[in-house]
Amino acid sequence: MPSPRLLVLFGSQTGTAEDVSERLGREARRRRLACRVQALDSYPVVNLINEPLVIFVCATTGQGDPPDNMKNFWRFIFRKHLPSTSLCQMDFAVLGLGDSSYAKFNFVAKKLHRRLLQLGGTALLPVCLGDEQHELGPDAAVDPWLHDLWEKVLGLYPMPLDLSVTPPGVPLPSKFTMQFLPETPRTCSEEQRVTRTDPQNPPSELHPFLAPMVTNQRVTGPSHFQDVRLIEFDIAGSGISFAAGDVVLIQPQNAASHVQQFCQVLGLDPEQCFTLQPREPDVPCPTRLPQPCSVRHLVSQYLDIVGVPRRSFFELLACLSPSELERDKLLELSSAAGQEELSQYCSRPRRTALEVLCDFPCTAAAIPPDYLLDLIPPIRPRAFSIASSLLAHPSRLQILVAVVQYQTRLREPRRGLCSSWLASLHPGQGPVQVPLWVRPGGLTFPETADTPVIMVGPGTGVAPFRAAIQERVAQSQAGNFLFFGCRWRDQDFYWEAEWKELEKRGCLTLITAFSREQPCPVLQKQKVYVQHRLRELGPLVWELLDRQGAYFYLAGNAKYMPSDVSEALTSIFQEEGGLSGPDAAAYLARLQRTLRFQTETWA
Ligand code: 2AM
Repeated sequence: MPSPRLLVLFGSQTGTAEDVSERLGREARRRRLACRVQALDSYPVVNLINEPLVIFVCATTGQGDPPDNMKNFWRFIFRKHLPSTSLCQMDFAVLGLGDSSYAKFNFVAKKLHRRLLQLGGTALLPVCLGDEQHELGPDAAVDPWLHDLWEKVLGLYPMPLDLSVTPPGVPLPSKFTMQFLPETPRTCSEEQRVTRTDPQNPPSELHPFLAPMVTNQRVTGPSHFQDVRLIEFDIAGSGISFAAGDVVLIQPQNAASHVQQFCQVLGLDPEQCFTLQPREPDVPCPTRLPQPCSVRHLVSQYLDIVGVPRRSFFELLACLSPSELERDKLLELSSAAGQEELSQYCSRPRRTALEVLCDFPCTAAAIPPDYLLDLIPPIRPRAFSIASSLLAHPSRLQILVAVVQYQTRLREPRRGLCSSWLASLHPGQGPVQVPLWVRPGGLTFPETADTPVIMVGPGTGVAPFRAAIQERVAQSQAGNFLFFGCRWRDQDFYWEAEWKELEKRGCLTLITAFSREQPCPVLQKQKVYVQHRLRELGPLVWELLDRQGAYFYLAGNAKYMPSDVSEALTSIFQEEGGLSGPDAAAYLARLQRTLRFQTETWA
């Protein structure tokens, strides 16, 4: 029997599922199995009927949601009228990546597994439940599962005897080859992005809009622990349109100092230009890279050199290392037995790829440029809730950005790539352009004039609600209730003056929770959060939801906040509505099903 084409389809939000999929692809190629690895939404799903063997690698995000790059697939596969047993005659296996500290642990993988069975697929293995919380990370579950998978696959589809396995330690050929050009052509690295678009073709990931940044203003007080920015873009002529609840995606770039350091340790000339060719005909070149492209463009705009590298990075580095000493260390870090050490060295302290390369200088200097795209994943775009409405700020788009910075045991503080890059831009000192595009977010608001909305948005979670309130006020929609929480009234109370003005005009009811302003030091530990305010106003909340058909929204980034607020709600249903515990939970589930309870949360 000829060996089948193996298809690996992934849904990845932070890149872990994509990395595991690439690893699966490499392991397949080592076993001489033809294998394609693709994001779920870039695969024409109707072709699944022709696939003999598919491995799905799916992360679960937020409150049990699928990642953005599998949302279309998710909608398709759960269509009511999808004929069962017609879509999937294939052998399949589902590998899930999740976080067991969230209630809906690996929800997407489990649900997909059930659905594929229902549609007529044959499961090779039980679903794999990778867990971010495990001390060894998801690999603790992934490694043994992959071992079983290959046994199953090679049992079902034996390998032709004349083909041998590429042993570990020998690098597979790189995915692309680079042809360096003797001279810098005039067009080298020219931006292939649009600065105008037609409304039929709004900006997208393939064609972002280069938006001029017009404001970058710190909105937290000088003594506040966190630097939060109000950032405004001019989107005139972009063809971009959006409604409250939508999100903007921003493609960040690396700091010039990091680009320089990377080129130095790898011995690359940033000004040199190259063209890229795939080694295999059906592998497309990354569309985000111009051809020809300069090394500087590749490193500053494409390679995620300050991401925390994964095990596969160390595996490949070990294969490429000319130094015995460094190779031994890299092999140890990439071995199954070395995972605790790898976690200590790299993932726990959030060490970046660039820092690792500096720790292995002989290896770094010997990396053939062809392997750069195998070694380092692309910089992912980052999503931000849009914080303004076009009805209040025509041709403008505003976001509220918390500049991510924290300390680990490493001396240098860890910084978020996108938020630090945005914060570093100075629109006052010459033109500043940021590649961006917009997509619908998870929140939609009722269109009727008299449906009340209750919005709970502590911290930067208030961003989408500012857009909603501006939009609703401009359309004379009444019944706007905002629960806002922050630490201190004078440090991180975003848009205080604007809310006060709207209250004065009778357009908004604002309820605040200042978590660190308890008068009595003994009570300092008993912080006041938005859910406490909700409980205090239980009768009003119940009246709005049960009698007036209100919609309830929740947004923010606190890990425990969503479940704490849901708990507060169910206890209101019990106390004010007289419901039993199970009935209160069912009431909340019904609100969720009918889109009257919506959440947008981020880590
Ligand atoms: P804290 O930082 O004082 O704990 C915005 O970040 C606000 O959300 C802050 O006042 C923060 O309080 C608060 N917050 C933190 N955890 C929360 C939770 N689980 N539920 C609600 N609010 C929370």
